[in-house]
Amino acid sequence: MTPAPDRYAVIGHPIDHSRSPWIHARFAQQTGQRMVYTAIDAAPEDLDDRVRDFFARGGLGLNVTVPHKQAVLPLLQELSERARVAGAVNLILRADDGRLRGDNTDGSGLVRDLTHNLGVPIAAQRLLLLGAGGAARGIIAPLLALHPAELVIANRSAARAIELAQQFKPFGTVRGARYDELKRQRFALIINATSAGLLQEIPPLPVEVLDASTVCYDLAYARDTTRFVQWAREHGVARGIPGAGMLVEQAAESFLLWRGVRPDTTAVLADLLAL
Ligand SMILES: NC(=O)c1ccc[n+]([C@@H]2O[C@H](COP(=O)([O-])OP(=O)(O)OC[C@H]3O[C@@H](n4cnc5c(N)ncnc54)[C@H](OP(=O)(O)O)[C@@H]3O)[C@@H](O)[C@H]2O)c1
Repeated sequence: MTPAPDRYAVIGHPIDHSRSPWIHARFAQQTGQRMVYTAIDAAPEDLDDRVRDFFARGGLGLNVTVPHKQAVLPLLQELSERARVAGAVNLILRADDGRLRGDNTDGSGLVRDLTHNLGVPIAAQRLLLLGAGGAARGIIAPLLALHPAELVIANRSAARAIELAQQFKPFGTVRGARYDELKRQRFALIINATSAGLLQEIPPLPVEVLDASTVCYDLAYARDTTRFVQWAREHGVARGIPGAGMLVEQAAESFLLWRGVRPDTTAVLADLLAL
């Protein structure tokens, strides 16, 4: 009898919007891997049970998405260095001895999309990061490693941004701010790492921050555009980019860690954008 295929999934809430099952199915097809990848909707109060249940039933790996990237930490026995620095995970691997190891591929996925796919310069530029949740945590150190002139973190709950900036000071020039402090400032790149888009909202960023040279990148994925990207384009920015490339690149690195083979992202990204 043929053994059942290896099982993987993404866990989040809400999860209907997730393209991860589609992306991993394409990777599996491309690399000849026998596996299934599903989506698990877990409300915060059910997270522990759903994670334990998935691995107890033989699951090999999970991607972790909004809002669970920090909440899942107590369930893990090991963390990679980058997940420890981030204090957030976006993937879990089950080792042969059953131990659960957390890792974080969000930062490398974003950096690869910005620098390799899109050619957006980071070194010596002023960057603004919106949001201080699980996704923001994963991308701060990888961005600082590219030596921007400064990284400013703004968040609705400003205390969280200030605390996060304090935590990442050993990695580069970074500070926290309130949205209303940003009015007269200019940034080469603005990255939206809030979950405002899930509610069809945009973060309270003063429009004065945008100009014709600004690049705006939204971690949120949508087929054509997102509320934030649309809003930025309406205010005349140089480029407004939804986060499809990051989604595919962080998925490719998850796939590599689980299956030991790196899929080619170019065709999968092109097909995702054409869906
Ligand atoms: N493209 C990709 O590969 C990729 C990868 C990772 C994440 N993401 C996306 O990134 C987003 C954030 O995920 P997460 O895991 O960081 O979520 P999270 O941990 O729940 O954090 C949410 C963040 O958004 C802020 N926020 C929520 N609603 C807001 C609003 N209306 N106005 C301003 N700020 C608001 C929160 O501010 P407070 O602290 O004030 O509550 C917090 O900083 C999600 O849309 C997720 O899908 C995409």
